Amino acid sequence: MTNRTLTVGLLGFGTVGTGVVRLLREHADEIASRLGATLIVGPVAVRDPQRVRDIPVARLTSDPAEVVDDPGVDIVVEVMGGVDPARTLIERALKSGKSVVTANKELVATVGFELADLADENHAWLEYEAAVAGGIPIIKPLRESLAGDRVRRILGILNGTTNYILTKMTEEGVDFAEALAEAQRLGFAEADPAADVDGADAASKLAILASLAFDSRIVAGDVFRDGITGVTATDIAHARRMGYVIKLLGIAESSNGDVGVRVHPALVPREHPLASVRESFNAIFVEAEAVGDLMFYGRGAGSLPTASAVVGDVVDVARGVLSGERPVNSLRRHGKTVRPMEDLTVQFYVLLDVADEAGVLAGVASTFGDHDVSIKSVWQEGHGDSAQLLLITHAARDGDLQRTLQDLRRLSSVRDVASVMRVEGGEA
Ligand SMILES: NC(=O)c1ccc[n+]([C@@H]2O[C@H](COP(=O)([O-])OP(=O)(O)OC[C@H]3O[C@@H](n4cnc5c(N)ncnc54)[C@H](OP(=O)(O)O)[C@@H]3O)[C@@H](O)[C@H]2O)c1
Repeated sequence: MTNRTLTVGLLGFGTVGTGVVRLLREHADEIASRLGATLIVGPVAVRDPQRVRDIPVARLTSDPAEVVDDPGVDIVVEVMGGVDPARTLIERALKSGKSVVTANKELVATVGFELADLADENHAWLEYEAAVAGGIPIIKPLRESLAGDRVRRILGILNGTTNYILTKMTEEGVDFAEALAEAQRLGFAEADPAADVDGADAASKLAILASLAFDSRIVAGDVFRDGITGVTATDIAHARRMGYVIKLLGIAESSNGDVGVRVHPALVPREHPLASVRESFNAIFVEAEAVGDLMFYGRGAGSLPTASAVVGDVVDVARGVLSGERPVNSLRRHGKTVRPMEDLTVQFYVLLDVADEAGVLAGVASTFGDHDVSIKSVWQEGHGDSAQLLLITHAARDGDLQRTLQDLRRLSSVRDVASVMRVEGGEA
């Protein structure tokens, strides 16, 4: 073996931090033989150093500066979360030439470009594999394995909480509130689930993926976002009858020199590989020009799955530090602009509550036609007060569909536009 050692300091010792220390200890022999050096756990910063921890560490501190300023620390692992003070601490570590591994999607999706530039200026490494889809390797495949290809589109189930809720709604017929309550009881959803159910968490991850895949500067705020709180048990039942399942998807696509980025619930054909991703699992479906379709599937969260990605980055960074190799800034290119949502071309599912009278369908169809939205299929359901029309359109401009909806709401035969959802994974 070897007697070279590198010291890893941690900012945060919660769910992910605990997993990181466990892996660094339990897999120490394999890591040492792969790396040709030993990784040791140095100082660990927490909010409350008095609290008894599941795993003991030699040095717990409430002062994160003791980690980033410690000259004995070679690599800083940031697993505390939030933008501040994580950002300032990472900046301080990078400025002193320390390399940084982070799992913080919120941070990377907002100031990742600035941090990557700072790392570059200081010849330090900044890695963030765990920031997107936890344990699933997707950053390195996009950045390295697919560097010779051209990614066309990414469709991702990027949030385990919402996928768990939608799976329960689909398989048990329960409504959103009941599925959320069960997810919270079982620990799949936070007490405050807002960032998950409103799509913000998935939007951060999608911004990172889109930036890498399309060599662009895309931040979380660029991503169009609609969450799952409006998805009803009725939508799910209708989708099933038409051969679809409903998933919260993050979609990034590039065409004609710009990029579309959006997170929203979508009808996915039952035969599509993403349709079978159940419960809290994540998956990223990548369509690339030369290789064709790829799917990356696994645990998008959890202590050890996420720690697997963090420690993988730590080993990678350690190799770089030991070899003296100059790091490559993966967030340097700012090529394409973001295309407004209304200019994206999408297929739609529209559910209308309608009057049960002759000529309704003709009026509805001509309203779609007025805005160049062509209808692919129509189902008519129920009678009297419960009469409904379900329509699936061909791909149309999002803006044209929104204008169609405005006009449909003005038709006397349309009582309500009960639901509108995009359809993905089928028609190009
Ligand atoms: N959990 C997952 O499955 C998962 C998956 C992928 C990515 N991530 C990301 O990983 C990061 C960590 O998540 P987590 O679930 O491990 O969080 P967590 O369980 O809440 O742990 C946060 C840790 O950071 C410490 N901390 C927070 N603010 C601090 C401050 N100002 N000064 C010193 N210590 C501070 C906390 O100290 P105390 O222990 O004293 O409270 C705690 O140890 C987040 O960016 C998250 O988005 C998490």
